[in-house]
Amino acid sequence: MENFIHSIPTKVYFGKGQISHLDEALRQYGTKVLLVYGGGSIKKTGLYDEIMKILSEGGFTVTELAGVEPNPRIESVEKGVRLCRENGIEVVLAVGGGSTIDCSKAICSGYYYEGDDLWYMVKNVPGPKKSLPLVDILTISATGSDFDGGGVITNLKTHEKLGAFFTHPSVSILDPSYTFTVSKYQTAAGSADIMSHTMECYFSSPGDSGLTEGLSETILKTVIRYTPVALKTPDDYTARANLMHAESIACSGILAYGKKYSGWPCHAMEHELSAYYDITHGVGLAILTPRWMRFVLRNDPSTEWRFVRFAKNVWGIEGEDDHGLALKGIDALEDFFRSCGIPMSLSELGIGTEHFADMAAHADVGGRLTNAWVPLTKEDVEEIFRDCL
Ligand code: NZQ
Ligand code: ZN
Repeated sequence: MENFIHSIPTKVYFGKGQISHLDEALRQYGTKVLLVYGGGSIKKTGLYDEIMKILSEGGFTVTELAGVEPNPRIESVEKGVRLCRENGIEVVLAVGGGSTIDCSKAICSGYYYEGDDLWYMVKNVPGPKKSLPLVDILTISATGSDFDGGGVITNLKTHEKLGAFFTHPSVSILDPSYTFTVSKYQTAAGSADIMSHTMECYFSSPGDSGLTEGLSETILKTVIRYTPVALKTPDDYTARANLMHAESIACSGILAYGKKYSGWPCHAMEHELSAYYDITHGVGLAILTPRWMRFVLRNDPSTEWRFVRFAKNVWGIEGEDDHGLALKGIDALEDFFRSCGIPMSLSELGIGTEHFADMAAHADVGGRLTNAWVPLTKEDVEEIFRDCL
């Protein structure tokens, strides 16, 4: 078992009505708030009004940054930093999904960044950064951005979508009932993302961290159980609560405790798809993951034991033939994503081979693929993209 450091400084209020803690969560940092949100879902659901009532009754001064895009752009980060500096902002309140929270993290760090090129900060400045405090209210179960320090920012001009470590949120309010209105497509994509975060940790070595292995399998089984319920009955609180609990843990780092870093290869490849085609992150992951698994299994038979364990412990498949079991587990994953309504090929998204070579050449950011659990070359990545057509 490998060494690890546990350090998650985020205070989480989980459950119905936890917005009652919003005033105290913000006030400890100040009363000048930058409210950041996406394309308007929070206005349609009534959450915006609920928040504004609390903020106005509490005497907070609110500046707004609306319209943060899915796959948030560097331009939104730049705008947010300007608003913070012009308005003496003391605390940032992000309300939405991973895109809004990631953008807000970059704003919090960008506020203190002394250079004038925030894309340079995203791309080149490693590690946690001095940041404004961040409070978030999560409205979709997917990324775990509410419980980790990372953020992913997109620069469409350079076709780059890059993850960076900014800062953990100081406080996260996780009320599963805010996710009742998430569309079927985004619910399914979010679940694929949660599963992918878990699998990016699970498919690595060594395999002797029993608690971590078991937690990963339980999270996968939880998502497999509750996603169909949430798709059929969007306001099923138990289903939404279990998905929200799973999403926080899955990307927090906990599922890698005791294990070597896997490189997160499916994320490295998916970020290329999003950078070129602006697709939904979880959908790209769902398409890539079974294809990556089959590639790994056929090119490195020493990984078979891991796929056998996945088939048995996650999908409950029994049998004597290890190779057959390994393949059945991967098929079960692909069938599950399809049953959730996710388009399972790149051609269904209108993506052809035109940029595969460039995307494969960029995908190895920071050596994530050369140092992966099963290392991937540029040619390997192109082959996996082709398998996804
Ligand atoms: O923008 P609005 O109008 O709010 O609508 C959003 C958006 O269209 C909608 N939505 C969110 N909550 C809703 C809702 N619609 C109805 N009711 C609600 N309650 O859902 C759409 C997607 O939102 P987004 O924030 O983009 O989704 P998600 O949470 O999946 O975030 C995806 C982004 O996070 C990055 C991804 O790469 C992508 O850019 N990731 C962040 C990670 C992290 N910080 O640790 C890790 C992940 O691997 C991932 O890379
Ligand atoms: Zn992800």
